[in-house]
Amino acid sequence: MTDTDHRDSYPPSPAFAAAANADASLYQRAETDRDAFWAEQAAALHWHEPWTRVLDWSAAPVARWFVDGKLNVTYNCVDRHVLDGHGDQVAIHWEGEPGDSRAITYRELLAEVSRAANYFTELGLVAGDRVAIYMPMVPEAIVAILACARLGLTHSVVFAGFSPSALRQRVDDASARLVITTDGQWRRGKPAPLKEAVDEALSANGSTPHSVEHVLVVRRVGIEVAWTEGRDVWWHETVAEASDQHEAQPFDAEHPLFILYTSGTTGKPKGILHTSGGYLTQAAYTHHNVFDHQAGQDVYWCTADIGWVTGHSYIVYGPLANRATQVVYEGTPNYPDEHRHWQIIEKYGVSIYYTAPTLVRTFMKWGREIPDAHDLSSVRVLGSVGEPINPEAWRWYRDVIGAGTAPIVDTWWQTETGTIMISPLPGVTATKPGAAMTPLPGISAKVVDEEGNPVRLGETEANGYLVLDQPWPSMLRGIWGDPDRFRSTYWERYAEQGWYFAGDGAKLDTDGDLWVLGRVDDVMNVSGHRISTAEVESALVGHSGVAEAAVVGASDATTGQGIVAFVILTAETTDTGNALVEELKAEVARAISPIARPREIHVVPELPKTRSGKIMRRLLRDVAEGNELGDTSTLVDPTVFEAIKAGKS
Ligand code: WTA
Repeated sequence: MTDTDHRDSYPPSPAFAAAANADASLYQRAETDRDAFWAEQAAALHWHEPWTRVLDWSAAPVARWFVDGKLNVTYNCVDRHVLDGHGDQVAIHWEGEPGDSRAITYRELLAEVSRAANYFTELGLVAGDRVAIYMPMVPEAIVAILACARLGLTHSVVFAGFSPSALRQRVDDASARLVITTDGQWRRGKPAPLKEAVDEALSANGSTPHSVEHVLVVRRVGIEVAWTEGRDVWWHETVAEASDQHEAQPFDAEHPLFILYTSGTTGKPKGILHTSGGYLTQAAYTHHNVFDHQAGQDVYWCTADIGWVTGHSYIVYGPLANRATQVVYEGTPNYPDEHRHWQIIEKYGVSIYYTAPTLVRTFMKWGREIPDAHDLSSVRVLGSVGEPINPEAWRWYRDVIGAGTAPIVDTWWQTETGTIMISPLPGVTATKPGAAMTPLPGISAKVVDEEGNPVRLGETEANGYLVLDQPWPSMLRGIWGDPDRFRSTYWERYAEQGWYFAGDGAKLDTDGDLWVLGRVDDVMNVSGHRISTAEVESALVGHSGVAEAAVVGASDATTGQGIVAFVILTAETTDTGNALVEELKAEVARAISPIARPREIHVVPELPKTRSGKIMRRLLRDVAEGNELGDTSTLVDPTVFEAIKAGKS
């Protein structure tokens, strides 16, 4: 990237700017009085009881926002819209992969959520209990999430692409009493089992008891499923039969809303904890301003899966709190063919489209004639999330999908931040291809060096670490069951200053605009999914033929990063060929998820280590990328690279 890149900038059209939800005064208002600013945002929600204080930071790093305030998150996302006379507005245009579809109004959503809440209560679940949701993109997944929130049950959504062992680990960590799943899911026209994975997860670990009392199963694909009497129940025989009347009770603003597991730098995923009032405030505020969402007019589509935080904040909570009409699509973008997304945009008149750079690059590969064959004139705002978007993909996205006019909001945030933190405002910011630009009004971030000094703005760009130096309403409140890890992971690096360390590198250009460069820790980003090198390494050494493994992320033209593994085999292993490599790839996919399947596995005789025995990943990255090797002077045995390169070719 050169210094001239940032001169290429795209201001909104005067017409867009004039009609937009947010104007530049939002920055000033937030600057003048942050607490008053956030109080104003929170006031857009319905509170059963008002808060007495906006922020209590005295027990930092665990914040309390909207102290003593009471609200019901689901009431805010559903009931109040019906009470306000919008019961007939479509909340969800659901599009099934095989081509079936359902339009669900806010009134219908309220009835469904009430039924589910009544049945969960009948099962004996009480506020504070944990519920695991392991489901594909079916409407019942959203209903289940909202029913949990309505009752103060803390949900833990586990991506339906995760393996039984990953599910079990998460169920155990949170002691979930209920698991909600489907019989199966559609995968490119074929039904694939899913409940089977729950059965396997719960029977794993031999006789080790688990916390699950019931498994609630939605029939989606109609395949045969094994049944455990007394434990398993069908949704259509229980929830569907329950009363559709249910009164939402208020919960404390700090009541735990959900846990969502994300990869860290060790093999054990972290259960990121989010609470209610501050989270919903920032989800609704960002969805309203970053996407310029106009209730009752826009048709919004976020292509994420509910298994990730983007699905939580920008399919469920943000849009529904703002009375969006949104598209939810069950399947893959190329089933039955590569036209699917553009057909959906045409069919529903999608005006706001939020996706990931990896998908934009895939669309580029498929060719612009595919979207060009469709009327995409309804699109007026485009969003990007999950990884840095390269300028080439950014320009293609704007030109081909946005007709050369739609503003792109490149939104930086994390599972931990809960909602968007750094992003353009589409009616205000002159955007630059590849830059997340500036922190949103009410949010504060810095780019600093190792010691915490702000990188100097000057004639040249400056690189550093991204930190958040002020608390924000949707910040994580901890790691489930592990307060020490919460402190050490995020708050130790800049303990003196009391800053949150995001784990990302960033640069400031000479205008002071921010470009996120990617992770600086041992976390890879594959198609926008966070995967830890340690998790993949532990899956590899779980195979009897592998003695040692080292995993790095290498640049990949489509997925951002690809997983490259170097393995040392055990002495007994005689098969060193392709069959073994394929078996190892399959083993990782099985142990974690197909998304963690390594792109390459190289069998090597040795791994580069420092004298203290630490694997030098930086050097392996150089090998994987085909770069000149950096400094090898700290290696015990610098000649190991000759052997590794031989193994790689
Ligand atoms: C990366 C996804 C650059 C970043 C919402 C972050 C991004 C990690 C962007 C969080 C962006 C996300 N530009 N990088 N616009 N958005 N990232 O928890 O490395 O799945 O730390 O949350 O994705 O991933 P997570």
